[in-house]
Amino acid sequence: MCGIVGYIGKRRAYDVLIQGLHRLEYRGYDSSGVAMITDPGELNIYKSKGKVSALEHFASNKDISGTIGIAHTRWATHGEPNDINAHPHCSQSGRIALVHNGTIENYTVLKEALSQQGFNFVSQTDTEVVVQLIEYIMDNNHCTLFEAVAEATKRVVGAYAIAVIDRQNPRQIVAARQSSPLVIGIGEGEYFLASDATPIIEYTNKVVYLNDGEIAVIEPDKELKVYDSNAIGKNKIEITELQMSIEQLEKGGYPHFMLKEIFEQPRTLSDCISGRITADGKRVVLSGVIENRSKFLNTNRIIIVACGTSWHAALIGKHLIEEYCRIPVVVEYASEFRYSNPVVNQGDILIALSQSGETADTLAALELAKQRGAFVFGICNVIGSSIPRAPPSGCYIHVGPEIGVASTKAFTGQVTVLAMMALLIGQMKGTVTDQTVEKIATDIRRIPTLIQDILSQSEKIEDLAKIFTYAHNFLYLGRGYNYPSALEGALKLKEISYIHAEGYPAAEMKHGTIALIDNDMPSVVIAIKDNVYDKTVNNIQQVKARGGKVVAIVTEGDTVVRNMADYVIEVPEISECLTPLLTAIPLQLLAYYIAVNKGRDVDQPRNLAKSVTVE
Ligand code: M6R
Repeated sequence: MCGIVGYIGKRRAYDVLIQGLHRLEYRGYDSSGVAMITDPGELNIYKSKGKVSALEHFASNKDISGTIGIAHTRWATHGEPNDINAHPHCSQSGRIALVHNGTIENYTVLKEALSQQGFNFVSQTDTEVVVQLIEYIMDNNHCTLFEAVAEATKRVVGAYAIAVIDRQNPRQIVAARQSSPLVIGIGEGEYFLASDATPIIEYTNKVVYLNDGEIAVIEPDKELKVYDSNAIGKNKIEITELQMSIEQLEKGGYPHFMLKEIFEQPRTLSDCISGRITADGKRVVLSGVIENRSKFLNTNRIIIVACGTSWHAALIGKHLIEEYCRIPVVVEYASEFRYSNPVVNQGDILIALSQSGETADTLAALELAKQRGAFVFGICNVIGSSIPRAPPSGCYIHVGPEIGVASTKAFTGQVTVLAMMALLIGQMKGTVTDQTVEKIATDIRRIPTLIQDILSQSEKIEDLAKIFTYAHNFLYLGRGYNYPSALEGALKLKEISYIHAEGYPAAEMKHGTIALIDNDMPSVVIAIKDNVYDKTVNNIQQVKARGGKVVAIVTEGDTVVRNMADYVIEVPEISECLTPLLTAIPLQLLAYYIAVNKGRDVDQPRNLAKSVTVE
């Protein structure tokens, strides 16, 4: 988590830094800070607990001049969120300032060693040891900032993206990365630096993604220099052209990014599908899969690792792949997989599923599987992020930047890609008929229009939300393809409204959870017409018999559940395996409106960050 920004050039750095911090606020928002070097070589550092707006307020009457600076927005790991623990951190002499995204695992050992050398620490963070270490190396080795950073990166263990400035050299930023993302934007005689490309896109679309172990020396009006971890060889710079537009990063008239992203889904899914189903609707084309045809044909097992919402999408992927490809699929929480000494066989395929492509646990699980001989495949949204850059192959979901912390359009994009992948592999293996592929592929193409229809019921869902805003607990029930939808619906509600909710397989309820049901515990039941419809209807009756209130998501025209449930939301009929794409929409809207009614900070809920780049 945490976002870092840097600027060096001719503009006032503060403006670029603050705007960049706003763009990165989704990565963490418990404190923020900036450091600028002014003309006479003064280092001004301003920090503030809370959101970036608090920092702006704090800095409003301060000297914010200078054309070089670094900035940070924090999601606390070491030390509580306060002004002192906020970044940038400064070396003891006040000469060096540093911002950091990641965690330094050996910081206690380093801190102890530096304390014995007379260094005093003012914060509780792991980061402060890095800036003190750099100063210590500079003083003892009489070396440049670049040489000191290179030496320091050899001594620290952990994940970091850092940007460092020296007030004695206002013409240089040194940056380094290991397991945390860092992008450098190349302008006309100026450079930008950030945890992702969103703070950069309004100035330039030319970027360089730093690789693990690389150190960059950034000086205005000079060529960008990137070195390997030994600081000896200059690495070749690969310039990427960004495809993102600034409009994608704005709310576009919606009160929240989350609502915008929910309503964007007809378009984002059209983009996700575009060019991937042949014009005759008979075949799916996903180049990452086709290029590795023999791997997918010969594998005995697929493992999908993911976290949070992506894990829910992975559970739907398991159903899809097992049904249409007849390949056993195991879905693991990445955080559990990486520490479980997992059995990974040669020929296994590991799919790392992640919106951000930066989730630390998913990245580590991928690396572990790779070491143990699996063929790894990434499915991500953020272009150029760490996961797509790590595996030999993969594909993007292409739903555009997702800014709201609660994942919405990424979930439907992930499920859509997994559905297309299952059809493609099944067709290659001959485990699914051409007719079935054509039927489901045609239905995939209908999804954007059908989602548009569901979105037109948003006012009804807004009204329903008013009835349930003050409930303290919710149960979400579903079966088969829609059991993961129930998990996802519950997670959406929990994370943005702070109401306790539990997602459960509807039939499992009678083994314990049913004891919770009473008049105060509403159940949201996904009861669409699928192969377990009758069973789900029974489950609804069991809830009703115990006085529970039921909100049911049903297939258009269903009268049976309509007569039984307290409230119903209809979704159009579609191939069963695609129903989670439709049922997701009312669940997202219900959570959104309840959270708004409760006055929650929908886009930036407490304690959360969008990209979880720490363990
Ligand atoms: O970027 P990722 O898909 O790897 O993120 C995984 C989870 O952190 C994420 O899905 C999280 O659960 C969502 N913000 C929930 O809405």
